[in-house]
Amino acid sequence: MDALLDRSVVLGYTRIGSRVRGLWWPADPAPDAMAGKRVVVTGATAGIGEAMARSFARLGATVHLLGRDPGKVGRSAAAVRADVPGADVVEEICDVADLAAVGSWTADLTARVDALHGLVHNAGVMPKQRAETLQGHETQLACHVLGPHLMTEKLLEVLRAAGESAVVFMSSGGMYSAPMKRWSADELESRDGPYDGVRVYARTKRMQVVLADAWANRLNDSGIRVYSTHPGWVETPGVAEALPGFRRLTRPLLRDTTDGADTTVWLVATRPDSGPGHFWHDRAQRPTTFGWERGVNPQLAAEFFDEVSALALRGTAG
Ligand SMILES: NC(=O)c1ccc[n+]([C@@H]2O[C@H](COP(=O)([O-])OP(=O)(O)OC[C@H]3O[C@@H](n4cnc5c(N)ncnc54)[C@H](OP(=O)(O)O)[C@@H]3O)[C@@H](O)[C@H]2O)c1
Repeated sequence: MDALLDRSVVLGYTRIGSRVRGLWWPADPAPDAMAGKRVVVTGATAGIGEAMARSFARLGATVHLLGRDPGKVGRSAAAVRADVPGADVVEEICDVADLAAVGSWTADLTARVDALHGLVHNAGVMPKQRAETLQGHETQLACHVLGPHLMTEKLLEVLRAAGESAVVFMSSGGMYSAPMKRWSADELESRDGPYDGVRVYARTKRMQVVLADAWANRLNDSGIRVYSTHPGWVETPGVAEALPGFRRLTRPLLRDTTDGADTTVWLVATRPDSGPGHFWHDRAQRPTTFGWERGVNPQLAAEFFDEVSALALRGTAG
């Protein structure tokens, strides 16, 4: 039944999926599961990220609510504090797509905190035009892949210090349309033809899944668990702006943002065992490719990890 929902896409990804699976999926985290723990949520000034910040605060976590616009960060932090009495929210300003900013923000955070129990790479964009960051990278590559990779690398010490921690890459079901391959430098930077924001989105969301899997394997013997996930189809400002036609068609069936945040919050709060692929949706592990495709080639994945590391570290003082 669960797999049928998944393969039908529309049933699984809409609110129908979570409503039905909620009948049998694993239990909620304990109400105080995150008490005494701290978690960073990127892109938390809207949509799913803000809902996640609220859910983590309800579980007792200190939430580091990260965005690139100080005004929006202040407004979202105030909204979470108003909704969750006693919420401990720390406002963090960083443009995830700016590698120099990620370098200095992570240095600042590691000087302020001893341990980090959760890191959620949620920030996402789907621009219509190709644009480059200060370091000359295409925006989606920088925001979905290079920035989160660098942030993970630079926060390993505090993630390790937590004893048990979790890192989650918020991918998308759209990644199924972009199989893993050996991407050329032009493909990585979207210089391989006319820019199609949706296509680049799918490709960079696939990269997140490959990267999360590679991180999970590398950190296998540590207390840090790494997952990727997709939230289903969720009513957010991002969807309204980037996909108005899709939203018009699907609106009655879209999930609310708390529903979209659910599996990520559950993963960080419960740290379930996970096998190769490490890709999750609706509190269950999901395949990273459809049946008719080959699985991800481990050699390609390892090469990709090294390439991303080189690109990400080049953008900072190292
Ligand atoms: N909604 C869905 O149906 C859906 C489906 C699949 C996957 N997802 C994924 O879920 C995540 C959240 O999506 P959403 O729909 O909630 O999006 P959203 O409403 O557009 O919110 C995105 C958040 O990311 C922030 N952000 C964007 N670029 C950033 C940067 N460079 N640095 C820091 N923050 C940045 C935005 O802040 P600004 O306001 O400053 O731009 C905003 O707070 C994304 O990764 C998206 O790909 C969503």
